[in-house]
Amino acid sequence: MKSLWDDQKAAALASDPLALRVYSSRLLGGDPTLVLHGGGNTSVKTTVENFFGDEEEILYVKGSGWDLGTIEAPGFAPVRLSVPLRMAERETISDTNMVKNLRAGMLDSSAPTPSVETVLHAIIPFKFVDHTHADTVVAVMNTPGGEACMREIYGPNMLIVPYVMPGFILARTVYTMTRDIDWQKLDGILLMNHGVFTFADDAKRSYERHIEIVTQAEAYVAQHTEPRSATTTPTQVDLLELARLRRAVSQARGTATLAQLNAGAEAVAFSTMPAIADVGTRGLMTPDHVLRTKRTPVIITTNVEQDVASYAESYRAYFERNKELYADKKLNMLDPAPRWAIWPGQGTVALGRTVGEASIISDINYHTIHAIEQAEALGGWQVLSEPEIFEVEYWELEQAKGRAGAPGPVLQGKIALVTGAASGIGRACVEALHAQGATVAALDINPAITTAFTQKGILGQTCDVTSAEQLKAAIEATVRQFGGLDILVCNAGMFPSSQTIETMDAKAWSRSLELNLTSHQQLLQLAIPYLKLGVDPAVVIIASKNVPAPGPGAGAYSVAKAGLTQLARVAALELGQFGIRVNVMHPNAVFDTGIWTPEVLEKRAASYGISVDAYKKNNVLQVEITSKDVAALACAMVGPLFSKTTGAQVPIDGGNDRVI
Ligand code: NAI
Repeated sequence: MKSLWDDQKAAALASDPLALRVYSSRLLGGDPTLVLHGGGNTSVKTTVENFFGDEEEILYVKGSGWDLGTIEAPGFAPVRLSVPLRMAERETISDTNMVKNLRAGMLDSSAPTPSVETVLHAIIPFKFVDHTHADTVVAVMNTPGGEACMREIYGPNMLIVPYVMPGFILARTVYTMTRDIDWQKLDGILLMNHGVFTFADDAKRSYERHIEIVTQAEAYVAQHTEPRSATTTPTQVDLLELARLRRAVSQARGTATLAQLNAGAEAVAFSTMPAIADVGTRGLMTPDHVLRTKRTPVIITTNVEQDVASYAESYRAYFERNKELYADKKLNMLDPAPRWAIWPGQGTVALGRTVGEASIISDINYHTIHAIEQAEALGGWQVLSEPEIFEVEYWELEQAKGRAGAPGPVLQGKIALVTGAASGIGRACVEALHAQGATVAALDINPAITTAFTQKGILGQTCDVTSAEQLKAAIEATVRQFGGLDILVCNAGMFPSSQTIETMDAKAWSRSLELNLTSHQQLLQLAIPYLKLGVDPAVVIIASKNVPAPGPGAGAYSVAKAGLTQLARVAALELGQFGIRVNVMHPNAVFDTGIWTPEVLEKRAASYGISVDAYKKNNVLQVEITSKDVAALACAMVGPLFSKTTGAQVPIDGGNDRVI
């Protein structure tokens, strides 16, 4: 590992210890092999003038909720150093009490809650303290001879602390172990199965000591193992099986969950390791990962539903077996669903309610896989025991967080596909579905669709919906990316120029039928196998006011839309048995769309002899209908409000006297 320290940058910050602290924290936090998603913590001790003008010794320690890679000065909690120092003298203190009193001991009550390792940071008698969960060091620790290896690599001047629970117990253990120690002689602290601490009065020295420690571990691994050679090629992924896994996990978790497949060569090679069902489920790289990934993944065999059900059953048993560890507290069992799966031959699957959660799990898997491979090559992956992990999973601080957690948006975890998504109603539907928590595949013939949305969880894909081949590819890419399909908004369509039946151009007729009708049948046909495996699946068809109230000259359009409505009614009848709802919307005069150019609008208004503004509100309620209004109704139709409705046709037109 290379030091990224830049003397010039650091010199510019030298007069401000907190600025320097931010700088070197970011160096550590920017490397995912050191710090992963909120892991690790750092601190600096300094003197500060308080509100009354008195000087106080303050420990600036990473605040909870901040990530070392992006931390800024307000991310450090200013704790009066005397508070954690006095706490360390206590034999016991609950972590809740510790955090409460640390908060009370802060110079600024609006600062974030100090890290649970604050007491440990305080008792280390150096200005700068750095703590990470460095992958390679932890991988070597997690082997049968882990502790001996640590001693062999780092020599006698390293304090090696056997695993204990993070928080006050860990701080107190180090406090006791270091009572009669000359700190000046220590090179660092290694916390078995957990991570590394380095410290110095100089920020650069503490940072570079960290890099040296990792480099030494890397050299040890290189010397004792063969280089990684993941050459396994992924096989064809069974996407229906992926959707089946996702549905089973969503049921076990009690909420829609995404399934993010990692079929990269490394994940596939890992999934085919000999005895993967044993090696892959021994446990975690560091205990705090339990909060993201649970203690073990589910291993996929030939019956994925059964696999998830067995996992949930064994999770309940694990809870029952270990809950006595916290006999004095009333524990709430977390949901029994797995957070990731090992799918032999296919790779790994991260299972999260949001794209963000799934990506974090995916990152942790990636690092864990590498650590497992290294440890296996060094004599065996040997990790913390079940009770030790349970203690962290059901830690009082985590239980409190669980209680405070607000429910997510109504469509969280849902996977939607919208056609004609680059403009007008389709675009508004993508945005509304995403705002309500869904991940969305946005399809359009216009290639601008691939860059039209920047939000995480929207997958823009160029697709001509009149091509069954392109539709199939787009649906498969969606399932591959998110794990399934729950919501279909069949929207792509066009309004042909006005032609009477007598003067109808044959091409215009067939183009309208092809796009406004046949493409929707093809989309449904291809999507149904996935919708059957969806979570509360629902289809919305965008038809038109022209269905109940056609106009002269609109034959090609009205006939196609009437056919589409009939298709939806048949679909509602056919798909009800699978719990798939199919409802139809009949919009009219939605002017903020591509169909309505200003010229067309003016012409139409003139033909009625009214102003454009009056024409826009030319309906019973005298209101303007926007694409956002249509999208809001689409969201309602695919959400819980319409959970008992199928085969319905709902106008969204401000009221049309002909329709009424
Ligand atoms: P729009 O023109 O703003 O959007 C239509 C989108 O569909 C465009 O982005 C276009 O590129 C895309 N598209 C066209 N052909 C495609 C193909 N072969 N493959 C994939 N994408 C394709 O129009 P608007 O108004 O948003 O239309 C959406 C739907 O709403 C249509 O089905 C339309 O018939 C219907 N509708 C619209 C009304 C209105 O007043 N705007 C009223 C009643 C129904």
